[in-house]
Amino acid sequence: MAINKEQVKSALSQVLHPQEKKDIISLNMVQDILVQEKYVSFTLEFPEKNDKLEMALTTACENAIHKFIDKDAVVDIQTGVNISLKRGAEEQQQAEQPQQQQEVLPGVKNIIAVASGKGGVGKSTVAVNLAATLAEKGFKVGLMDTDIYGPSIPTMFNLFDRPNITTQKKLIPLEKYGIKLVSMGFLVDVNQAMVWRGPMATSAIKQFMTDVEWGELDYLIMDLPPGTGDIQLTIVQTVPLTGSVIVSTPQTVALDDARKGVAMFQKVKVPVLGVIENMAYFVPPDMPDKKYHIFGKGGATLLAQELNVPVLGEIPLEQTVREGGDNGKPIVLADKDSAAATAFMEAAGNMEQQLALRKAKEGPTEKVEIKFRP
Ligand SMILES: Nc1ncnc2c1ncn2[C@@H]1O[C@H](COP(=O)(O)OP(=O)(O)O)[C@@H](O)[C@H]1O
Ligand SMILES: [Mg+2]
Repeated sequence: MAINKEQVKSALSQVLHPQEKKDIISLNMVQDILVQEKYVSFTLEFPEKNDKLEMALTTACENAIHKFIDKDAVVDIQTGVNISLKRGAEEQQQAEQPQQQQEVLPGVKNIIAVASGKGGVGKSTVAVNLAATLAEKGFKVGLMDTDIYGPSIPTMFNLFDRPNITTQKKLIPLEKYGIKLVSMGFLVDVNQAMVWRGPMATSAIKQFMTDVEWGELDYLIMDLPPGTGDIQLTIVQTVPLTGSVIVSTPQTVALDDARKGVAMFQKVKVPVLGVIENMAYFVPPDMPDKKYHIFGKGGATLLAQELNVPVLGEIPLEQTVREGGDNGKPIVLADKDSAAATAFMEAAGNMEQQLALRKAKEGPTEKVEIKFRP
């Protein structure tokens, strides 16, 4: 069937501008749409030259047309500069200025917790790859490893430096692949952290939020420890989380635990943006077209239905994912064409959309005040 202009507009209205948080149609960035049978061409206009953003948005547009209209569509995108867009964006930004400022992490637009009920399901792997995907897209990203007792970010980034402290006694995050990083693993010997008592751990986490120079960020991804303990509670009480992403494997036991994780967020009214099913299927390295559902199939879909949230992605079990974790280079950067990298990128895109939807529907999340009975 021949494609029409309206379909193109509607598909492109699903493509979000990473910094503006609006779709490219509402931002007036799409001009000169031409359609003929399966051929689609248009111009993407930018307020100023920005190669990285142009590349990211061009790819996102192509994907949107293939996904929402026709996978065989031939897409031809020109890019151009239109400075009047810049003025429009600045005016809009000024109009949006008098927003309520949050006291903790004032420069951070979105705070996302990556959680699970159980350890070892790949929470840190998901958090790292989401952060890396968002940074690749041109967002300003931070990643906070809140697993005090089992920090994994240092290994996953192959980074073991000590962060600097400013004269105001603020910690400066380390940086790699364009991601600002903070982990207990950068500060103390891992074996030392293991013997910490609960109150010490929670006060350390509080400091990660209040005494770190995170600066301006589009996304702060928090890699949570497994379960629903003190650290998770401290986090929801200290900052208004924008949303949470639940990681689970297809196994029933893992899903039961995931339900508990979700229940905690729902109780404190943090929106659950969706479920990411990790280790969803196995792809043998020598047979990349084969899929084996070794842990079962469809579990995350059931959980998502039960919670009325979407499945944001299904990440395959691939040897290179683990190797990426062990070698300090996330798979989305080490092997962009792998099935796992593609799945992570799709999950990140779906997460952005869920966030945009949520923001359009409801106001900002508030910090949770837990009241104890006398
Ligand atoms: N999709 C995957 N494919 C292969 N290995 C994975 C995948 N996801 C996670 N792993 C590996 O499983 C182990 C546990 O993952 P991790 O992210 O540390 O889990 P968690 O943070 O939930 O405890 C790590 O060695 C990691 O590299
Ligand atoms: Mg972990």
